[in-house]
Amino acid sequence: MPFFEGPSPANAVPITFVTLQSWPEIKAALPIAAAHFAAASKFEPTPGRSLILPDAEGRFAGVLFGLEGQAARFRDPFLPGKLAGVLPAGIYRFANAPHDTALALLGWALTAYRFDRYKKRKDAQPQLVPPGDIDVARINTLARAVTLGRDLINTPANDMDPDALEAAAVTLAAQFGAEAAITLGDDLLKENFPLIHAVGRAAAKPPRLVDFSWGAEDAPKVTLVGKGVCFDTGGLDIKPSSGMYLMKKDMGGAATALALAYMIMARGLPLRLRVLLPIVENAISATAMHPSDVYPSRKGLSVEVGNTDCEGRMILADALALADEDAPELLFDFATLTGAARVALGPDLPPFYTEDEALAAAIAQHAAAANDPVWRLPLWQPYDKLIDGKTADITNNAASGLAGSITAALFLKRFVEKAKAWTHFDIYAWTPSAKPGRPEGAEVQAARLIFDLLENRYGTRAS
Ligand code: BES
Ligand code: MN
Ligand code: ZN
Repeated sequence: MPFFEGPSPANAVPITFVTLQSWPEIKAALPIAAAHFAAASKFEPTPGRSLILPDAEGRFAGVLFGLEGQAARFRDPFLPGKLAGVLPAGIYRFANAPHDTALALLGWALTAYRFDRYKKRKDAQPQLVPPGDIDVARINTLARAVTLGRDLINTPANDMDPDALEAAAVTLAAQFGAEAAITLGDDLLKENFPLIHAVGRAAAKPPRLVDFSWGAEDAPKVTLVGKGVCFDTGGLDIKPSSGMYLMKKDMGGAATALALAYMIMARGLPLRLRVLLPIVENAISATAMHPSDVYPSRKGLSVEVGNTDCEGRMILADALALADEDAPELLFDFATLTGAARVALGPDLPPFYTEDEALAAAIAQHAAAANDPVWRLPLWQPYDKLIDGKTADITNNAASGLAGSITAALFLKRFVEKAKAWTHFDIYAWTPSAKPGRPEGAEVQAARLIFDLLENRYGTRAS
């Protein structure tokens, strides 16, 4: 789907950005009919406010859009994207520059996203002609990647089951000449992924691990792991209906890893990418794992099931152990792992965990630059004893219910040893109420910031 391509700007409607500071001058330069109309509409250039301006005949001549002032402590670079949701269908252009043109364009594309797969009527949407001095191809790639991830997450579990999620990963890999290896069902036991098997074996569609690599074999190794729970009922420790309703999004980590993989491959970053997706449904049937069950893990640690609803850390443990075996330079995992992360930071600010100080600083910096916010929480070692098992080496449900996102991260940490640097993102993958660039529903969190970081670290294109 092209986001910014197509019609020539000759008849495009100009959008003029205004701040409190610039408004007097812009107002003074408006044609008289537009000036009268703006005054009669009591237009003030408050952030996010828009006004359609008429020409002398009352035709659609332009748009005013209020932005934050220069001094504003918090600015949302996606704010201009709001226009994609409020303007009538038509062709538009920027008459002057917003605070950050590239992020404004991206914000527009991300606001224009619709999940209309199941709708008969598709909305006609406003089109924006991008300014000439912008790398539109890069923005289109980011927008396509986020669209891919959001579509996977928004698709309900009856159409996004383990087969469908696997197919999406296989298709993406093939698109870039990579071949995915699948370890399916009981083969997981043979190949030593006992935890992925234990979590997924109760479902109609068998559990599996998708593994693909792309790029030059001697390039720096970057591995992405994503939690792919196509639906999380909680298992025998069943969730209440309020907690279960959104659990189609519990494969948001896998979707995020795929979105990031798309960015990396489409932009040809000079690195050796590996993507590992443990894919399951946490279902209830006669073969479901029980609370108090003990399973071996790929790494050799025995794991006791304190709660069958702590399934994400189990499947990630085996996938991370595999990822760790070839000591990647950078290892990232993305997972809708805990409700506790939401309690701590809310839906829009995923916590991340790493022990690499320089990497943590770089992540914070690229999060700000990419308008993809995250917040560091500690791998607080004194809490590590909370996940010691009673009958096994480790329990999937920490003794106290407190610091749930931290104890989940500490659980994962026990399975990572050799990776040069490991970072875990406890994402929400969902926007409960729409904001500019972030429509209500599925969200891809932390992928754009990591793409920015990788682009910055390794350069843009394989030569
Ligand atoms: N997928 C959930 C975590 C989750 C819930 C993420 C809601 C985002 C929104 C995970 O598998 C889970 O169920 N975690 C439990 C752990 C608890 C039983 C210790 C949780 O967070 O409630
Ligand atoms: Mn769960
Ligand atoms: Zn889950």
